[in-house]
Parts: sequence; structure tokens; C-alpha cells
Amino acid sequence: MEDFHFKIFKVMDKDLYKAVSKLEDICKKHDEVRLKLELEYKLAKEDAPDNSTVEKADEFTCWDGDELVGYIGIDDFGGRTLEVNGMVHPDYRRKGVFKELFSLVRKEWMERPSDFMLLLSDRKSAAGRSFIETTDSFYDHTEYEMVLSDSLFDNAKESSKGLILRQACNDDALEIARQNSIYFGEELSAQKLLDIELEKKRGFHVYIALLGGIIVGKVHLHLINGEGGIFGLGIIPENRGKGLGRELLLRSVEKLKELHANHIYLQVDADNDTALGLYQSCGFEENYSMEYYKLKKER
Ligand SMILES: CC(C)(COP(=O)(O)OP(=O)(O)OC[C@H]1O[C@@H](n2cnc3c(N)ncnc32)[C@H](O)[C@@H]1OP(=O)(O)O)[C@@H](O)C(=O)NCCC(=O)NCCS
Repeated sequence: MEDFHFKIFKVMDKDLYKAVSKLEDICKKHDEVRLKLELEYKLAKEDAPDNSTVEKADEFTCWDGDELVGYIGIDDFGGRTLEVNGMVHPDYRRKGVFKELFSLVRKEWMERPSDFMLLLSDRKSAAGRSFIETTDSFYDHTEYEMVLSDSLFDNAKESSKGLILRQACNDDALEIARQNSIYFGEELSAQKLLDIELEKKRGFHVYIALLGGIIVGKVHLHLINGEGGIFGLGIIPENRGKGLGRELLLRSVEKLKELHANHIYLQVDADNDTALGLYQSCGFEENYSMEYYKLKKER
């Protein structure tokens, strides 16, 4: 391989953020594909109180002189499955850069308790899929990103049941984890409890949905640079089928609009017909598809 140097960082600082954002722009223009790097979210981690004690490394980079030419980031979203996504500068492809970065990521994975790793690639990225084929991963699922169309949202029908959104605090962390295990199947014992106050500093606002004082669901709203994201939305099973999911979604959109979001998006499992139908009926349209491939650790 040419004279590249590889460097691993624990967290994303402002300089690395700038370099990765620049590389992301170049790749997006060149390939017309999307990446899911969560850079803003990662940058905010820099201010986390436990930053100096972080042992694990999440940022894997390759440099030619002082130019960043390859990057892979790890994200665990508080769970035990690692999500891995990255890119290589168009002028530096097919030279083994990504292969080398990925071997460093694998080494890091071996040091962690995570049994699974998910590799992400835009469905339209032929190179991404070809690379993934060289690993021993198997297809897991596809997620759509959906974007709100304001004209469609204005026509969304609603009959209010009186749902109230209360901003969550750290005392709600166990309830949030309990609901996540119901909606997304991640065992309660495998989840790190969310530091909700810290999440707020990072632009993530968690809300508990209440009906007549009883908890019926939750949602996480993210706002950064005018981009509003809706995540982790769910209604507890015994309260489903009563229009509460729809009301929670519409309230979430309104909250993000109040916070001056000029673009609102969410991600949904392509097989989740119920959620897809709900989002479409509230004015969301499919934007792109991200494929997830799973690797299992051999012990
Ligand atoms: C996918 C991507 C990261 C590959 O980077 P790279 O540094 O060129 O990859 P490597 O040189 O390490 O390739 C390793 C192997 O992957 C496969 N591969 C990579 N690109 C390929 C392509 N365009 N066509 C076919 N196979 C390809 C090959 O098997 C290759 O080994 P080989 O060159 O010995 O045949 C790069 O094309 C990219 O940034 N694409 C846009 C972003 C993206 O789709 N990211 C998703 C990553 S999973």
C-alpha cells in the first residue's frame, strides 16, 4: 500500500469533525449515496463528563499527509450492537484503504463485549455492497429514511385523544429502556441506561407520552442545524390501535416545527408496514434506503 498513515481516535473532536465532514461532502457528490455517520451527535460527545475516561476507540482514519482520505466510525447507540459506516476519497479507492480500516475496526470489536456488528450501506452504493460481500456478514434488514412533505402534512387528519408530551428526565431512564426493549427487541439487561440530561445537551430531547396521567409511549426528538429527527417512537402494546401513535407523531412534528426545524425526517424498518403506513398518512415520503448487514463474533 502507498504511504498512508492510519490513526485511531477515541472521540470526535472539532478538527476531526471538519475533516470527516469535508470527506463526506466529496463522497456524497461523487457517488450520490448517503452515509449514516451521526457526526453532529458524535461531536457533542466531546463535552461528555466521562470523556477523559473513555477507553474505547470509535473513530478510524486514514491520511495522506494531512488530508483525510478514509474514515470508518463506530456507534453503539447505548446498546451492545456496533453500527459501522464509512467511506474512502474517490481518488484513493481500490488501494485497500477501506479493507485496512475495517481490519482495525474488527480488532477493536474483539476487545468489546458486543457479539454483533452491523455494516451499513446505501442500497445504491454498488462499491459498498461489493465491499460488504468480502466480509462474512449476512443481510439483516433495510431502513428507509423518510422526509416530511409540508403540503402532505397539512392534509393529515387528526382527532385528538388528549395525549400529553412530558419532557423526560434522568429518573425516566429505566422506563425508556423498558419501552426500547418492547419496540426494538434489545434486552433490558443489554442496554446502557440513557443519560437523558446529557442527551438534551447533545440536541436529543426525550418525551414521555401520557394519556390521562398514564404512560402510553415515548419519542426522541433531535434538532441540529435546522434538521429535525424523530427517533424511537413507540406506543405500549395495550394502548395501540386507538390513534395514539398518529397523535404522538403529529405532536412530534409540531414540536420540531416550534423549534424551527426546516427539514424533518425519520428512519423506519422497511418491513414495518404498520409504521410505514402511519408515516405516509402523516405526510412522510421515502428518501433513501440503507441496508444493514450483520456480522456475528466467533468466540
Ligand atoms: C465502499 C468504499 C468505502 C470502498 O473503499 P476502498 O478503499 O475503495 O475499498 P478497498 O480498496 O479496501 O476494497 C476492498 C475490497 O472491496 C471490494 N470492492 C471495493 N470497491 C469495489 C468496487 N467498486 N467494485 C467491486 N468491488 C469492490 C473488492 O473486493 C475489494 O478488494 P480488491 O480491490 O482486492 O478486489 C468506497 O467505494 C466508498 O467510499 N464508497 C462510497 C461510500 C459507501 O458506499 N460506503 C459504504 C461502506 S460499507
